[in-house]
Amino acid sequence: MPDHSTRRPIRFFHRGAVVEVSNAAPTRTVLEWLREDARCTGTKEGCNEGDCGACTVVIGEAAAVGDPSAVRGLSLKTVNACIQFLPTLDGKALFTVEDLKAMTPDAQLHPVQEAMVACHGSQCGFCTPGFVLSLWSTYEHHRASSTQPTRQQLADELSGNLCRCTGYRPILDAGQRMFDLPAVALDTAPVIAALKGFASDTPFTYSGRSADTFHAPTTLAELAALREAMPTAQLLAGSTDVGLWVNKQFRALGDILFVGEVAEMKRIVEQGDELHIGAGASLEVAWAALAKRWPPLTDVWLRFASPPIRNAGTMGGNVANGSPIGDCAPVLMALDAQIELRKGARVRRIPLADFYVGYMANRLEPGEFVQALAVPLAVPLAVTSRQVRAYKISKRFDCDISALCAGFSIELDAGIVKTVRLAYGGMAATVKRAALAETATLGQLWTQATVDSAKAALAKDFEPLSDMRASAAYRLQVAQNLLQRLWLETRVDNPLATSATSVFSMMPHETSAAAAA
Ligand code: FAD
Ligand code: FES
Ligand code: FES
Repeated sequence: MPDHSTRRPIRFFHRGAVVEVSNAAPTRTVLEWLREDARCTGTKEGCNEGDCGACTVVIGEAAAVGDPSAVRGLSLKTVNACIQFLPTLDGKALFTVEDLKAMTPDAQLHPVQEAMVACHGSQCGFCTPGFVLSLWSTYEHHRASSTQPTRQQLADELSGNLCRCTGYRPILDAGQRMFDLPAVALDTAPVIAALKGFASDTPFTYSGRSADTFHAPTTLAELAALREAMPTAQLLAGSTDVGLWVNKQFRALGDILFVGEVAEMKRIVEQGDELHIGAGASLEVAWAALAKRWPPLTDVWLRFASPPIRNAGTMGGNVANGSPIGDCAPVLMALDAQIELRKGARVRRIPLADFYVGYMANRLEPGEFVQALAVPLAVPLAVTSRQVRAYKISKRFDCDISALCAGFSIELDAGIVKTVRLAYGGMAATVKRAALAETATLGQLWTQATVDSAKAALAKDFEPLSDMRASAAYRLQVAQNLLQRLWLETRVDNPLATSATSVFSMMPHETSAAAAA
């Protein structure tokens, strides 16, 4: 059983000092602590489920060596305070809207605040602190890299902040204006010194006044041993699903096993001919790694939730959660990814396409956890062309749950379909590949006639449901249309550019990655 001798208070850096908390329940949220215990009421509560951004705060950690997004030695990431549990702050720095005034000389407004006032970026003001923190993160990152965001990049960075009053133009104006004002930079030295002071703290178990214990192992071996010893403990990664179970379903979690301190689980490395994505890697860095290798995945990356959710949530959590409308699984199945599972010292792999056994049910054994995702990189040299596409269909462009999501991979050799993987989320109780549509395509010339037979086969692969996001008929029709879109973009004669088939590219829209390239 776990060693409770390492029990100690939660320790983090906030408003210029080290804070210790020893009496809060393990599932007390950062937002509750800020507003009710620390009386820092600048951070607001709107939805309490990660959707609106009113509770946006910034988490600072020591930047990894070579981290391109580092700000003078710090990694600064926006997260939603409403779905982050307080013990996850241990060893980190917490920045809130109150910090901005402390950064500016003699009580002037910070350039972000000044720009919001000058551009009339605030009416009722309820969303404003959340926007200001998201803009501050953007401000620090772009000033550190001596760049300025495009208007579209600003819109992408603010996709997790909702305003009901201003209509966003003034806020985007403020996001550009803030760079014209006299610069103010976070003094990172005292923060880094405090973080160094935490480095000698023991690996962390915490209970507060609760009978439940929050365990935060720091190595894979410790995590594996604890997972085997506590097979019923609630595994916690980025808390962007689990946080809502507490806030919205009022579930008691019992003992918690937090994977977020295991550095080995966050690594993304090319190993031989595969990309190894640690299950604890944030969605943001994991999607960026996939989109770097397959640029057509950029759209689904930027439309996966919002930056605060992608900063906190993990690809391992998305796959393990197993929602039938999870957006990572269709893409990873199209890429023929394997899921790496660990129990004690045993590590096994299975194709992700075989991982789910029913609605929110998978092949994990008691005491086992997802260690990584392995994505094959090599493509047989003989194959003339391999194309990967992913299409997310949702009501809103930004920060919306998919009605359906498709991940496709097709390899052509002299116009013949050599390999094909067609995976869909939102079409069945689990994310799964369209086996009959794949069979109708494999070995055939890649023509309209082949696509038509694949569309007909698709109607036998799935019996979609109707729900508040879409009707069954709409889902099937769109799923078939996406096959048509795949063909239009990958046919041998006159393939269409993705800009010609994406409704969103009709807008003056350039994705962050494209703009940054
Ligand atoms: P957690 O919430 O920490 O855990 C989720 C589940 O996975 C739990 O059961 C946990 O026990 C289990 N788990 C976590 N890590 C492991 C592991 N290593 N091994 C075994 N089990 C593990 N999802 C989408 O697909 N697309 C979206 O567009 C999207 N938008 C969202 C928007 C909002 C506002 C919110 C709040 C959520 C959204 N989500 C979306 C859902 C969620 O963000 C993702 O599913 C996320 O990837 C979950 O990862 P996490 O690390 O936060 O998991
Ligand atoms: Fe809405 Fe946290 S209160 S995202
Ligand atoms: Fe009122 Fe944004 S100013 S919600």
